[in-house]
Amino acid sequence: MSPFRYMTIMALALALGGCGDYGSDTEPESTTSTRAPAPATTEQDAAPAGAADACPAAPTPAQTEGPYFSPGAPRKADLAQDGDGDVIVVRGAVYDAACAPAAGLRIDFWQTDADGVYDNDGFRFRGHQLTNATGGYELRTVVPGAYTGRTEHIHVKLSGDGGELLTTQLYVPGVSDQDEDSTGLFDEDNVIAPVESNGSTQQYRFDFRLP
Ligand SMILES: [Fe+2]
Repeated sequence: MSPFRYMTIMALALALGGCGDYGSDTEPESTTSTRAPAPATTEQDAAPAGAADACPAAPTPAQTEGPYFSPGAPRKADLAQDGDGDVIVVRGAVYDAACAPAAGLRIDFWQTDADGVYDNDGFRFRGHQLTNATGGYELRTVVPGAYTGRTEHIHVKLSGDGGELLTTQLYVPGVSDQDEDSTGLFDEDNVIAPVESNGSTQQYRFDFRLP
């Protein structure tokens, strides 16, 4: 499907009240935000999330899903509500292979808590959200902990109508350490970029480009 046709379909889907393929409008939003077809915020809409110059020069490197993905995580953009830790916010946009903003895609984020422990029975530090009209997303969470063999990382899975599009992992600058990762998975290309902010919460940016 051409990018134009894809965007047209996604725009129609949004105009009709949501991304029905995910049943998003029938799912309870686990954050305090109001019901909406995508987790857009005023700040996000004002940001150049869909600007062509923000599209990465190369597709985002894929990384292994690992053994701890749990399907069916709730719609939840704020994982910081799930436990204590150093709160961070990661914002960015998702672009297709041709650098067109990818609206209405599902992003699953999952990670350990600050002590390096996964919730494999429930959905603490696990949630999904939908990219907004300009491909934007916003994740609020805490810095994950390291666990044996792995440096601190956040798992990500992007999915569309046709299923999975990209599975990868993100790393936190100044926290994630190549020497701490005996798997060799740590990748500089997947390190989130610090963004200056006046607030107390550290902000980061990461833009995804699909293969
Ligand atoms: Fe992991």
